[in-house]
Amino acid sequence: SETDKGIYPYYMLKEIDEQPVVMRRLMERYFDANGQALVGKAILDEMRAADQIYIIAAGTSYHAGLAGARMFEQWAQKPTQVYLSSEFAYEQPLLVEKPFFIFLSQSGETADSREVLQNINQAGYHSLTLTNVEKSTLWREATYALPLLAGPEIAVASTKAYVAQVTLQAILAYALVDSQVANLDLQDELSEITVGIQGIIDDKETFQAVADELLVPETTHSAFYIGRGVDSTVALEAALKLKEISYVQAEGFAAGELKHGTLALIEEETPVMALITQPKTAGLVRGNLSETTARGSHAFTIVTKALAQDGDGYVLPDTNPLLAPLLSVIPAQLLAYYTSLGRGLDVDRPRNLAKSVTVQ
Ligand code: G6P
Repeated sequence: SETDKGIYPYYMLKEIDEQPVVMRRLMERYFDANGQALVGKAILDEMRAADQIYIIAAGTSYHAGLAGARMFEQWAQKPTQVYLSSEFAYEQPLLVEKPFFIFLSQSGETADSREVLQNINQAGYHSLTLTNVEKSTLWREATYALPLLAGPEIAVASTKAYVAQVTLQAILAYALVDSQVANLDLQDELSEITVGIQGIIDDKETFQAVADELLVPETTHSAFYIGRGVDSTVALEAALKLKEISYVQAEGFAAGELKHGTLALIEEETPVMALITQPKTAGLVRGNLSETTARGSHAFTIVTKALAQDGDGYVLPDTNPLLAPLLSVIPAQLLAYYTSLGRGLDVDRPRNLAKSVTVQ
């Protein structure tokens, strides 16, 4: 059944493997036969009328929101801010006159996110929940709700829900502008990405080897992910994946910030993973990375084909730059999985963590 591990040692690996299926399911549900996005008219009208979109989320869903915001801004020209629900709930920023809220939540039950939803409902604002659990609290209490269709996610470390959230936000942003988006056939692009994701998953042994070499069990206690633009948001998600299941202290951040502090932490053999998928800043990220290798870091690059050079760690297929997270997150998921596995940890049930956080 859908909640059965089957042949898999851990749910996380099963859920990583399911990502191409999830992508296809989303495309089937959210595109018509002509490749037009299918999202309710009422939702689109409200988003169009809004001065600003506020995305509210926690954890991995927050990271998905950071990636999604760029598509709402750059494709749909809609100002978008992303907030941690645990912050927004207790220190609400000054709102624009006509806000529209998007709640991102795998479970639909995160208490801090619900706190925000209750507050904004009371103020009379409208909202859309994107969740994996139909009829969940955030589903029921929002003005509108759309399903992520990822199927049950059991492993504490979220994988397929992230990919579904980024994909569905892409579809929403695209629906707002329709075919006017220059040079983008989203359905086509997502189909190619799906093939690309499958290709990375088929290479999974590569990441087992990289994990063994780069994140050595006895000696590696800290690691860094860097990137610029949307890659910096994937760096946050990649670091979260690694730390939550392998207990390696991992930090993800905007590559240009290295020199303002973190560079002091680079020692011989410190792993630094650089995400390089953005043509505009690829050279700058490489420059930042070489500042770490000059201090002895063990660098590993995850880079799209058009930007690849000799010596790169893993090469991803090319795609629209704002959709690159859908590809670049997969190596990070696999690296985290194999690092946890290699350390003999319980991949699916890391210490101290819960799948759904219903306390504030
Ligand atoms: C917990 C889970 C994370 C998840 C976060 C937000 O911390 O372990 O995987 O990203 O909650 O949950 P939500 O269900 O709202 O996406």
